Amino acid sequence: MKLLETLQLGRVELKNRIVMAPLGRARADAQRAPTELVATHYAQRSSAGLIISEACHISPSSATRTFSTANHTERQKHAWKKVVDSVHASGGVIFQQLTHVGRKALLSGLPKGERPVAPSAIAAFGGIMKENGLEEFPVPRELELHEIAPIVEDFRHSASLSRDAGFDGVEILAANGFLIDQFLRDVTNRRTDEYGGPVENRARFLLEAVDAVISEIGADRVGVRLSPYFRADKIDDSDPVGTFSYVVKELNRRGIAYIHILESRNYDETGDIPLHQRLVSKSTGGAGPRPGQPFLAPIMRKLFDGVLILNSGYDRETAEEAVATGYADAVSFGRLYISNPDLPERFRVGASLNEPDISTYYTNGPEGYIDYPFLDREAAVATHA
Ligand SMILES: Cc1cc2nc3c(=O)[nH]c(=O)nc-3n(C[C@H](O)[C@H](O)[C@H](O)COP(=O)(O)O)c2cc1C
Repeated sequence: MKLLETLQLGRVELKNRIVMAPLGRARADAQRAPTELVATHYAQRSSAGLIISEACHISPSSATRTFSTANHTERQKHAWKKVVDSVHASGGVIFQQLTHVGRKALLSGLPKGERPVAPSAIAAFGGIMKENGLEEFPVPRELELHEIAPIVEDFRHSASLSRDAGFDGVEILAANGFLIDQFLRDVTNRRTDEYGGPVENRARFLLEAVDAVISEIGADRVGVRLSPYFRADKIDDSDPVGTFSYVVKELNRRGIAYIHILESRNYDETGDIPLHQRLVSKSTGGAGPRPGQPFLAPIMRKLFDGVLILNSGYDRETAEEAVATGYADAVSFGRLYISNPDLPERFRVGASLNEPDISTYYTNGPEGYIDYPFLDREAAVATHA
């Protein structure tokens, strides 16, 4: 299988092309530091060619969900070092995903008195499921011009802590309707200053964050996650091909290690359903083109010389096809990695897969996090011999 072949990614050689997608699982402590459970969870999955950590917040104002992790304090950095050490000790490679959620913050998740911030004062559709039901995203406050550079600096600072914790690299989350994505797309960015209007302006914030992180850790240790067709919270763009072609060309010029594109293989006519409902209904993850829109991965492939990782709704067969036909170098798996710690081995022998349990996605404990069974190797080989 091509998926099981090695791949050079920046300075590291991956042992296969099966990537663990970033998965926020709310297993941090009250100060947003990863617990021992987190170290166990990732070490269990270290047979992946690459692990991309859950989205980690770069500042107190960039967070939202209770018990989601962050990396902007010394204490968080030390806790992450234990996670990275346990992955490395098990032979794995791990990048840290960094994010600012922007308008997808809840008032209850921010420091007292703060409002969510965004390029423009337009609320995200939907919210986050809490114990008492859905808490909706409020209307955010438009960022003032002088407030943007400090957020870029937060990305740089957080990347320096990632490096010091021993991570092999950093993935900047510019996808899924979070702050950078809100700047990129013209439905959520209505600014009239140098961060709004033409794509050169809308991409400025992303590229400044990328340059800041490169200055800290080097381009060959940087990846960027993009979701040109994600619109589950009513983010959208009038010209996804134009917007993302410009972005990918600029990323290519900087020589970053990889781009990570969410694009479902299926045309997606249900893109306006909020993400929490889509995940519960086991949809493909929700980042596909509308009928009439082109598949972007092959277009982006031509514009980018580094590694291209694809995601959203892939399985063993479709991932192998994507890598064999060459429009992806690697494929990442989200939900399959929640429930199958040994996914490469299962793919290799063609074994059956464990189903993920949605009810434990965000519960703050070991159940549904470190207790999914590994393959019984002998039984699996006998079945598929
Ligand atoms: C529980 C859960 C948590 C997720 N957390 C993140 C995250 O922290 N960062 C991110 O970029 N995507 C996140 N995603 C999206 C996944 O990385 C992935 O794009 C999505 O599950 C679709 O891929 P799949 O079809 O292989 O599951 C999350 C998805 C799930 C189900």
